[in-house]
Amino acid sequence: MTDRYQEAYAKSLADPDGFWGEAAQDIHWFKTWDTVLDKSNPPFYRWFRGAETNTCYNALDRHVEAGRADQAALIYDSPVTGGTVRTFTYRELRDAVAKFAGGLASLGVAKGDRVIVYMPMVPEALIAVLACARLGAVHSVVFGGFAANELAVRIDDAKPKVIVSASCGIEAGRVIEYCPLLDQACHLARHNVEKCVILNRPEAPSTLRTGRDIYWQDLVAGAQPHDCVPVAATDPLYILYTSGTTGEPKGVIRDNGGHLVALKWSMKNIYDVDPGDVYWAASDVGWVVGHSYIIYAPLFHGCTTILYEGKPVGTPDAGAFWRVISQHKVKTLFTAPTAFRAIKREDPEGRLLKDYDLSRFKALFLAGERTDPDTLDWAQRHLKVPVIDHWWQTETGWPIAANCMGLHAYPVKPGSPTKAVPGWDVRILDDANNPVKAGDIGAICCKLPLPPGSLPTLWNADDRYRDSYLVDYPGYYKTADAGYVDEDGYLYIMSRTDDIINVAGHRLSTGGMEEVLADHPDVAECAVVGVADDLKGQLPVGFMVINAGVERPEADIVSEAVQMVRDRIGPVAAFKQAVVVPRLPKTRSGKILRGTMQKIADNEEYKLPATIDDPAVLSEIKAALETLGYAGSRRQGS
Ligand code: COA
Ligand code: AMP
Repeated sequence: MTDRYQEAYAKSLADPDGFWGEAAQDIHWFKTWDTVLDKSNPPFYRWFRGAETNTCYNALDRHVEAGRADQAALIYDSPVTGGTVRTFTYRELRDAVAKFAGGLASLGVAKGDRVIVYMPMVPEALIAVLACARLGAVHSVVFGGFAANELAVRIDDAKPKVIVSASCGIEAGRVIEYCPLLDQACHLARHNVEKCVILNRPEAPSTLRTGRDIYWQDLVAGAQPHDCVPVAATDPLYILYTSGTTGEPKGVIRDNGGHLVALKWSMKNIYDVDPGDVYWAASDVGWVVGHSYIIYAPLFHGCTTILYEGKPVGTPDAGAFWRVISQHKVKTLFTAPTAFRAIKREDPEGRLLKDYDLSRFKALFLAGERTDPDTLDWAQRHLKVPVIDHWWQTETGWPIAANCMGLHAYPVKPGSPTKAVPGWDVRILDDANNPVKAGDIGAICCKLPLPPGSLPTLWNADDRYRDSYLVDYPGYYKTADAGYVDEDGYLYIMSRTDDIINVAGHRLSTGGMEEVLADHPDVAECAVVGVADDLKGQLPVGFMVINAGVERPEADIVSEAVQMVRDRIGPVAAFKQAVVVPRLPKTRSGKILRGTMQKIADNEEYKLPATIDDPAVLSEIKAALETLGYAGSRRQGS
């Protein structure tokens, strides 16, 4: 017997035009499309060619006009600023966004111009993003935990007319001044940024750079509200940079039309939420989860979204999530498993839950990394609601695999994000591009064309888009995850096939870290691998071979290397461990055996690679790892 999920899935693949054309009826268009899916220029597929819309109109104005003006659109909850809570109704948020859009326009920002948003988790970050969408300008949010150098790389690639920032961000226990980072980034970048808008926060007010900077508050005071500018459905809405296999990040593009349709559809069909419900994605606006499920999807759907400036633990305790859920009547929470591991570690018995009323809470969704069975079990036992692992990527913008709670709730199988979501033709392929049989591990690929909402290409890098994703498995998008499908059609995501690691749900490139270590004057060669960590999932560990003749203490070189990664990539890299080794394990052709090193660290079985140059080197790696507490006895905690 077919269920609603099966029907939807089959239709989405058999008749994508019909399926997504119908879903698109839920969106406001200034002009409808000529073609639902334009396949005229493969592999560059475009959704809703010919249509005109405005993403901000669909997020805000539309709801104000349709009777939700006085409903809360946004609740800002900030334990790190002493418990600030601020609510914006849809009308208030629309007005604030229209004003800031007017301010940006007065600085010369117009349709197609890029604006970088480098901000902490404050309402103004959402306002800035939505104001760009209102003008048809292309926003690019840069996560606050990145260093100036990473910001500079993004400035040079996106070439923004304006950067919107704040005087500071607040991490538990420390205030991070943004302006010095911004100044350094502007200094490092070749592209000249004309204007920076600075939100002055009382926790660390800043002074301005004459000629370049203007305070947010002053810009808005003199601004006229700006209307929504119609844009083509195929115009870019944003660029979001994500780690590639080198230090140069990839600029994932999201369009306006396909993104609107897919995200709006996902809210009912995947998350089973309705307009008016309170939806909370505990992530950061700098990540794709923040873009899609803090800002856009909940607003497209007329929900109340929560913006939480705090951590799962320590702000003030491991009951913080339960406090937010009960205080703001959250129906659905979306976060990364690492947040739950942090809570579980501090409050293993879930004692703090008893202090809060979670009667309105209906489901927990987890993504960013695999939900390990222990965390799943703990969350199910204590929360007594469905706990849904779902799988997606910055590139896809919304889930590829999930238990679609609004269509048909399947039994949860621990370790699996359930099944492919409608629109995603997921296949497990071998190296010859052939499907493998159920239960066999292969490369997880998605048959082209991809559904709406997924990346149409990379910013100014069509060739890189093709080379990174489309060349290895002709006719498919390569997710760079490996896994399998079981006999019931459940998907299992096992590992990355490239050198990306996942640290506390954050995607990081070990190649990027190696580039930094290699720049240390005493380092001859190096390797970085991700090793298992009980809290963050993985942590990077660096191995460095020192130049002959260097006589400085190894500990000094290690601490300089650690500081270099922090300074160049940022604290988010969580790079705190490195060791000096006499040499690196390599194949006879010179390829570094990172996979084998990682297995040694994780105390997993490994086959001695037939092509290894000198097997004795593996004992040296093991000995070095033992000095860090790895290998032979898996490290506990971090
Ligand atoms: N600005 C500046 N620094 C930041 C930052 C930001 N926006 N976000 C994180 N950092 C810093 C942290 O303070 C930390 O610095 P430290 O080395 O001085 O301690 C470092 O970057 C690493 O951060 P993180 O890996 O997040 O570790 P943490 O110890 O601060 O917190 C968790 C651990 C598990 C509590 C936290 O990662 C978390 O809540 N994660 C789940 C939610 C999430 O963000 N998921 C992402 C995608 S859904
Ligand atoms: P990002 O682009 O930062 O969202 O990271 C995407 C990567 O995170 C994926 O390619 C996976 O490797 C991993 N990932 C995300 N969600 C899951 C999940 N539910 N299960 C397993 N891995 C996941």
